[in-house]
Amino acid sequence: MCGIVGYVGSRPVVDLLIGGLRRLEYRGYDSTGVAFFSGQTLQVRKSEGKLENVEKLLQADATRFADARSGIGHTRWATHGKPTTQNAHPHEVGDVVLVHNGIIENYQDIKAELARHGRHPRSETDSELFGFLVQDELDAGREFVEAMRRAFGKIRGQASIVAMCRREPGRVVGVRNGSPLVVARDPSGGVLFASDAQPVLEYTRDVIFLENGDVAVGDDSGLRILELATGREVRREATRLDWSPERLDKGGYPHYMLKEIHEQPVALIDTLNALLDRAKTDAFPMAPQPGVELLAKARELVLVACGTSYHAALLGKYWIESLARLPVQVELASEFRYRDPVVGADSVVLGISQSGETADTLAVIRDMRARGVPTLGVTNVRGSTLAREAQAVFYTSAGPEIGVAATKTFLSQCLAMLLFAGSLGVKRNPAHRARVEALFHQLVKLPHLLESALEDQGPLTQAIRNACGSVQEAKGFFFIGRGTSYPVALEGALKLKEIAYIHAEGYAAGELKHGPIAMIDDQMIVVVLAPRDAWRDKTISNLEEVKSRGARILGVGASADESLRSLCDFWVPVPDAMDESLLPFVLTPVMQLLSYELACLKGTDVDKPRNLAKSVTVE
Ligand code: G6P
Repeated sequence: MCGIVGYVGSRPVVDLLIGGLRRLEYRGYDSTGVAFFSGQTLQVRKSEGKLENVEKLLQADATRFADARSGIGHTRWATHGKPTTQNAHPHEVGDVVLVHNGIIENYQDIKAELARHGRHPRSETDSELFGFLVQDELDAGREFVEAMRRAFGKIRGQASIVAMCRREPGRVVGVRNGSPLVVARDPSGGVLFASDAQPVLEYTRDVIFLENGDVAVGDDSGLRILELATGREVRREATRLDWSPERLDKGGYPHYMLKEIHEQPVALIDTLNALLDRAKTDAFPMAPQPGVELLAKARELVLVACGTSYHAALLGKYWIESLARLPVQVELASEFRYRDPVVGADSVVLGISQSGETADTLAVIRDMRARGVPTLGVTNVRGSTLAREAQAVFYTSAGPEIGVAATKTFLSQCLAMLLFAGSLGVKRNPAHRARVEALFHQLVKLPHLLESALEDQGPLTQAIRNACGSVQEAKGFFFIGRGTSYPVALEGALKLKEIAYIHAEGYAAGELKHGPIAMIDDQMIVVVLAPRDAWRDKTISNLEEVKSRGARILGVGASADESLRSLCDFWVPVPDAMDESLLPFVLTPVMQLLSYELACLKGTDVDKPRNLAKSVTVE
């Protein structure tokens, strides 16, 4: 939540900050701001709304600020206080200017203490209060870095803060304590700060992921990293990232989301290559890595996640139970962390999070580690907190995902789940070996098949566009499916809510008659996921139940399934003849494109839907 960027060095900082914030907007975009030194003068420009508003504020003075070389910027996802200009970061208090990501939990105590001395912050944020704490230390005669360290000792919670000081204009200081923060040495001299690697990649691929309790100091003499507790200098190695900056652009697509939907075949190939040992020809040969051993020892798996990642976990349950005969629990992290769950002695808890930064998922992993339970992570982001805190981690290789609504990261997580299921199946369930081997041979062809299915003028994409034209005025949508189509239905409904702001519900098709069917009338569209699998005929019975109550049916099924097609008002064909475990990989893109087309027809901001953020670092 919230994106931070900072720089000190030889490049014009204003452009650098704006470019960096553009890369970070997925973390929040309800208000934005920058602060920088032009000569010895501190300039702050901030505004509610998106980055364009700040760019406009800067336009008038663009040449005047061409000399500025140190600055910080922020894009906000509001937690404390409305998304107004006043609450936007950077916050200026006395000599201090700062940006913050996270939550200062004892903010009420700090505020009350300030009020007792007649001091009142200008904003409603918890962040601004930190400025007062630093200013007090400066007033007591401390230097800026020392003042930051001492002020940090007075706050509780998960916070990363990057700040500058009027008394030392050529210095940027960042502290990581919870929320992610990376730093990098600019090859042409200087130091970069950011909430994640994306703004930095344009300048260097060598990135240092700060540890909790690190203080990074950037100035004329380069980068130093100190321990927050002691002030002693520490060494941190840089990680070389393989994401190229070109992969961060739209590449000719109107939206990142559409580009990322089309990147799914490549994301699947890269994830296959990352998780499997491709030199081997047997079925599901996992590449050797620490997590594989831990996974193999589990007698029960507890999959923990939020949002879209939770749907990948649900699919994982179907596959792992069926192929590997290993019991699987699936849990919403936000619930699990506050229960007192019973976790078996031989259980492994696996957190799934594309960002690797979701607060609730991380809290479960920490709690389980503290109880001595083995933990694993699946994430798309190297160096993310999940990757560092779980005992072992598996990386999906979807590349950077900019659209806030998860697409290619979801399909890559699903693939990771299927690979776990297959590899455990080979070891644990010899009776199913032939099935698992056949599945593997089809799986390696899947990316190619998906690529053909996603062709721009192909039957699948055309059918979706045609259907969307007719269903856009509907009162609401139900997505129904059974078996592995059920989690896909949940994901379909979530996508439609997220980006098109249309009310939608995902249901296990068999549950519809237990209440929701009362909602059905001719204003309702029911999206029926009934590919050729073990559940198809039962799903069709449910289709008949809603059809007879007036619902209009948008059917998604095998391209040759004429009898299903004849029951539907709208029809989207998906490729036929594949192992049923692979069907979610072709059904999911249909859900994504359906939401995408409807969102475009409604004219919403597809890549940055309202009220959402891609990385949710608050609970
Ligand atoms: C946010 C995003 C969702 C995402 C969820 C979990 O709510 O908007 O798209 O599914 O967080 O994120 P994670 O990074 O843990 O997968």
